[in-house]
Amino acid sequence: MIAQPLTILDHHYLELNNDGEDVIEGLSRNPKALSPKYFYDDPGSLLFEKICELPEYYPTRTEAGILQQYADEIAEITNCCELIELGSGSSTKTQALLDAYQKISDSCRYLPIDVSGGILKDSVLQLQEKYPDFAIHGLLGTYEQALVHLESNYLQSRMLFFLGSSLGNFNPEECDSFLEQVSRTLQSGDYFLLGIDLQKPKDILEPAYNDSQEVTAAFNLNMLSHLNWRFQGNFDPNLFRHQAIYNQVDNQIEMYLHCQKSHWVNLAALDLKVFFEAGESILTEISRKFDLVTMKKQLETKGLKTVKNWTDEKGWFGLILCQVE
Ligand code: AVI
Repeated sequence: MIAQPLTILDHHYLELNNDGEDVIEGLSRNPKALSPKYFYDDPGSLLFEKICELPEYYPTRTEAGILQQYADEIAEITNCCELIELGSGSSTKTQALLDAYQKISDSCRYLPIDVSGGILKDSVLQLQEKYPDFAIHGLLGTYEQALVHLESNYLQSRMLFFLGSSLGNFNPEECDSFLEQVSRTLQSGDYFLLGIDLQKPKDILEPAYNDSQEVTAAFNLNMLSHLNWRFQGNFDPNLFRHQAIYNQVDNQIEMYLHCQKSHWVNLAALDLKVFFEAGESILTEISRKFDLVTMKKQLETKGLKTVKNWTDEKGWFGLILCQVE
């Protein structure tokens, strides 16, 4: 079978070219904040792949272990359907699922969706070679764009999956509207598979986001380089320092870039000049840690009823399979 071409969601570039509004708004706020979506240019996506392999960063390998163990069971429950992955990255973990679906059918469809074109294209080409009988179409775009696109292109029964606890990077309001959109996109009987990082002690969480090789620091600082090329900026990443702390009240990791020296930054394409005080910080990401029972209840309020859930032995990570009522 011929490799499927990469489908480009038309509005992607448009949106990314026009989306400086949120940067202007975030840098005018006190305290300053930037959207984590600016982590994921191609260098940022590669750094994220490296994070996933760090000894301190347990989520990826823990979730991969659960998927390895239960992929066959998941495939058995859902049967052959269109597999759609939001935020697929390199699709490495997904292969446990694709292997399981290959055992039950030779005509599955897999649609990986990601904002990072380079990594998406490479993984589609590799997967197409490994799974020649699968129809594989990469969709380049944001979650919102992808969900709108899917809503208007309904073809067959589906399992939408959102792994890696990416849900944790949404604040509670964003999380709510995301789940609302997921539920709207799917039809009765369709499945949604969600991977979530669970609450655990601070001494496990903080090292996972402040690793000793400083890959997470490079990932966080890369956001400034990304903003420089996207908006003709002159951020000097050397004037900022990475830190991640666990907020035990809100059960979330908070990642910051702390400014080391007072200075001005100019983002010419946005016609924006921003002053940074020495000691002030930019919040670049939250990573919420969930409680399984509460999450199942929240999913149910969106018409997503849990069929089964799995965790690892330590109870560090959870996988929830739900079905649209
Ligand atoms: C993508 N997301 C689920 C990661 C997380 O753990 O929140 C992003 C990340 N940030 C720092 N390390 C990993």
